[in-house]
Amino acid sequence: MTSLRPLDRLIFPLDLPDWTAAEKMARALNGHVGWFKVGLELFIAAGPSVLARLRDLAPETKIFLDLKLHDIPATVGLAAAAAAKLGPEMLTVHAQGGLAMMKAAVDRAGPATVLAVTVLTSLEPDSWEELAPEFRAPAALVRLLAGRAQAAGCGGLVASGQELSALRTAFPGMKLVVPGLRPAWAKVAGDDQKRTATPREAVRDGADFLVIGRPIRDAPDPAEAADRLAAELAD
Ligand code: C5P
Repeated sequence: MTSLRPLDRLIFPLDLPDWTAAEKMARALNGHVGWFKVGLELFIAAGPSVLARLRDLAPETKIFLDLKLHDIPATVGLAAAAAAKLGPEMLTVHAQGGLAMMKAAVDRAGPATVLAVTVLTSLEPDSWEELAPEFRAPAALVRLLAGRAQAAGCGGLVASGQELSALRTAFPGMKLVVPGLRPAWAKVAGDDQKRTATPREAVRDGADFLVIGRPIRDAPDPAEAADRLAAELAD
């Protein structure tokens, strides 16, 4: 991925409640990040047309549609086909939906890269033990599900900083998209991200793309913060 410009690795999540707020942020960051991520909140609140609106506003910026699809294979295949018509460059499914479900998404997603989410990092060890006590270490399940995702034809994985090195080694051909990153200078009030890595560490450990939200959003000048991140990655 060395041909990427540093800013092409930066994915900004438009985690905002409506188009007015999303438009303001997208205008401010146009040309300063490579990607906008549209998640459930904005997609549900503003509707599927949000992708076309972003495309008009920032034609050079790629779109990552992060809906984490998870249902029976037929339904996910149809949803992936509908999502593909909106033209995102990447979209997500839950690997826990199984091989056939992921394959259905890959088959219907057109040119979009399908990324698999393995185990939500929000699951604490206690809640994890309730769900799947045989996998006391989620790392083993992450690895298993990542292998299924690769077999299904997914082009990448959403990975936490903790899993990154192991996944990079085990799956050299897959794109790795990493959230939960904090540059040393970021001050995020009441931060809920624990065990964070810095963006530079993530790239060093094999990340292709970095999801960075609040360090940019909450900076006095978000575009300047994005430029600073890109400059750090270039060093
Ligand atoms: O940088 P910040 O923590 O603000 O980024 C939050 C974004 O990253 C949200 O869109 C969230 O869904 C996503 N995310 C995360 N942690 C994960 C997976 C995704 O924060 N483990």
